[in-house]
Amino acid sequence: MGDLEFLIAMAIIFSALNPNVVEGRTMLNSMHLSWGTQRSGFLQPSGGDDVTLLLDPVSGSGIKSKDQFLFGTLEMQIKLVPGDSAGTVTSFYLSSVGEKHNEIDFEFLGNVTGEPYIIHTNIFTQGAAGREVQFYPWFDPSEDYHNYTIRWTPSHVVWFVDNIPIRVYKNYLDDGIPYPDLDKPMRAYSSIWNADSWATRGGLDRINWSKAPFVAKLRKFRARACDFRGAASVANCTTSQLGLHDRIQMELIRIKSLVYDYCQDYDRYKGLLPGECFQQQY
Ligand SMILES: *[C@@H]1O[C@H](CO)[C@@H](O)[C@H](O)[C@H]1NC(C)=O
Ligand SMILES: *[C@@H]1O[C@H](CO)[C@@H](O)[C@H](O)[C@H]1NC(C)=O
Ligand SMILES: *[C@@H]1O[C@H](CO)[C@@H](O)[C@H](O)[C@H]1NC(C)=O
Ligand SMILES: *[C@@H]1O[C@H](CO)[C@@H](O)[C@H](O)[C@H]1NC(C)=O
Repeated sequence: MGDLEFLIAMAIIFSALNPNVVEGRTMLNSMHLSWGTQRSGFLQPSGGDDVTLLLDPVSGSGIKSKDQFLFGTLEMQIKLVPGDSAGTVTSFYLSSVGEKHNEIDFEFLGNVTGEPYIIHTNIFTQGAAGREVQFYPWFDPSEDYHNYTIRWTPSHVVWFVDNIPIRVYKNYLDDGIPYPDLDKPMRAYSSIWNADSWATRGGLDRINWSKAPFVAKLRKFRARACDFRGAASVANCTTSQLGLHDRIQMELIRIKSLVYDYCQDYDRYKGLLPGECFQQQY
């Protein structure tokens, strides 16, 4: 099946699921608490547009979007756990459900006081992960809110921090390289949990529970969903190629802040890097 026929087929399947643009709705209207402690939740002073997520010795917590999306630009403002956050992971991600799921991740790996967080990005395609790229934030992400944005289109995925693109994963399906299924919608999620077996210096720095509860603050989740109406609208879902200015900014961030890129990890792949590493990245 060619790309166009495929898109038409999925348009028919998913026309009932035509995602709504939920921009303008508060978080209370667009998301709900899906697991964790009752002390987490929506704050009323902002009309429910702020959420606190708590991690204590009993449980982490998480929220998820009520809507599913098939392509779009999803954004969350996050203020991470301050001070000693070692062993904690806060996340903002998109995921489909079921076996062989697709997922596009931002994960924020905490650290001991004064040491830097890691902004960890990853993508799962048909259940397979292992495409990690990591950065040090060029600001203190616990001092104020910052914008974390995932743009997901049929042609590429872009991760943005404060509107600066930090990573692109392009669609090279025609070359046999995996990409999140073009016919599987995803929900947006955010959570905080205990990952101290691996998160901070590979598990060397564990959570100090005397500092609990650990609190991540979120606000203004916005979904500018693609108004996907089948093949004819694909162009409308794909318009946002990165311009020269964006590409220069991304290069500078990579020079300054890159911690790890799986495409440079020759040891891990015994010299046989995944196919996309040989393609133009953005
Ligand atoms: C985050 O995005 C909002 C809305 O686009 C903007 O007003 C704000 O300045 C951004 N914050 C940062 C730190 O870039
Ligand atoms: C924590 O700080 C150490 C020391 O500066 C650094 O090596 C590490 O990359 C930082 N981040 C995480 C998540 O381990
Ligand atoms: C945990 O935090 C407490 C309270 O701040 C502190 O006294 C203790 O030294 C910390 N433990 C470790 C292992 O850092
Ligand atoms: C694409 O976007 C333009 C401008 O917003 C709109 O006029 C047009 O109807 C859209 N096409 C489809 C097929 O959705």
